[in-house]
Amino acid sequence: MAKKNSINVALIGRGFMGRTHSNAWGQVNRFCNPPIKAVLHTACDNVADGAEDYCQTWGWQKFEQDFSKVCKDSKVDLVDLGTPNYIHASMAIEALQAGKHVACEKPLAGTLEDASKMVNAARKSKAKTFVWYSYRRCPAIAFAHQLVKAGKLGDIRHVRAFYLQSWADESVPLAWRFDKKLAGSGAHGDLNAHIVDMTRFVTGQEITEISGAIAETFIKKRNKMVGNVAGGIAAGLQKSQSMGNVTVDDTVLFLARFSGGAVASFEAARQATGNLNRNGFEINGTKGSLMFNFERMAELQYFDATADEGLRGWTTINCTHGGSHPFVDMWWPDAHAIGYEHTFTNMASDILRVLAGQKPIVPLADFEDAYQTQRVLEAVMLSATKKRPVKLKEILN
Ligand SMILES: NC(=O)c1ccc[n+]([C@@H]2O[C@H](COP(=O)([O-])OP(=O)(O)OC[C@H]3O[C@@H](n4cnc5c(N)ncnc54)[C@H](O)[C@@H]3O)[C@@H](O)[C@H]2O)c1
Repeated sequence: MAKKNSINVALIGRGFMGRTHSNAWGQVNRFCNPPIKAVLHTACDNVADGAEDYCQTWGWQKFEQDFSKVCKDSKVDLVDLGTPNYIHASMAIEALQAGKHVACEKPLAGTLEDASKMVNAARKSKAKTFVWYSYRRCPAIAFAHQLVKAGKLGDIRHVRAFYLQSWADESVPLAWRFDKKLAGSGAHGDLNAHIVDMTRFVTGQEITEISGAIAETFIKKRNKMVGNVAGGIAAGLQKSQSMGNVTVDDTVLFLARFSGGAVASFEAARQATGNLNRNGFEINGTKGSLMFNFERMAELQYFDATADEGLRGWTTINCTHGGSHPFVDMWWPDAHAIGYEHTFTNMASDILRVLAGQKPIVPLADFEDAYQTQRVLEAVMLSATKKRPVKLKEILN
């Protein structure tokens, strides 16, 4: 593809992620000085109601209801998927075959089989692929990645990762996220996907074995939804009186081993009352340790075990210093904190860097990389179902 000054983006899906991505593609030009600009070319959704308002609000030039027409539009350079998991594969493959770059929401797919087809399509294409593991671009997490890479933790011995939410009580209707055919899994693909990616990213290591896993569904039936899903859970879902079956997990816990020898525990739950978006990790090494919780996203806790013994203690680093902490120099002065949405804008800026032939500020997940996370998710479910350890070697690579 010839070098260009701008990239025409087509956003697919205008729900929760549709809003974060629309915001990111708009803000990236204003704040991040990208080497090529993002043009908000087309917004696409299979639901047309309110599309005109949506485009006006977020700055999209036009709306298209038919995804195939977006792929056939020679003006579109990048297809950005913010649709439910079951449709990632068919959309990504169609877009790649049409020569488009693809940025796909996480998890890569609902199933390993779909994810494998996506990786194969990416291998056959000259286009670039990206997966929105957006938390990599939270400055404190990106900084944790850099500290580990610089050897500050020594050899990593323990990893504890958790992603606890509490929104999914009985009042929430049967959205696509509770349907195995549409989502693949529940808290597992939704939340464990993030912390598997995050710990792979921060430690720089791969998970080699799942030693045991437990999956549970507490709420087995929910009210069916009324109408369509555009706007998603954030926009409020309408429910009917008739009930339907929940076919995914509410919580999945597992134990694992990392390639560098560390042992690890992972916890994902959607009904961990009081934990609204407690997404984080504790990583203990021979020279130091780190702790992070997204509910206090600017802060990284660091323990330096090489410091004078009398002075050792946990340090709370406020990761808001441009020049020291990744991505921050694109935003505000020290301690003028950024939020959830900035992680997406930071990712949009790195996508534009890569499309311009430059290096991202910290590594991005592409389809190959996100496939490794998908293999871990698959191994965990196999371990939970068969009630036995599973080596990653058993899972299609
Ligand atoms: N990176 C993150 O932190 C994060 C957070 C939430 C969701 N996600 C992921 O983003 C994806 C979307 O989740 P969401 O919460 O935005 O869902 P959502 O239900 O809020 O929105 C999905 C949108 O896709 C549209 N859609 C469905 N089928 C379509 C089709 N065939 N053609 C065009 N549009 C279609 C729906 O109408 C809706 O507007 C999922 O893969 C999810 O796992 C990622």
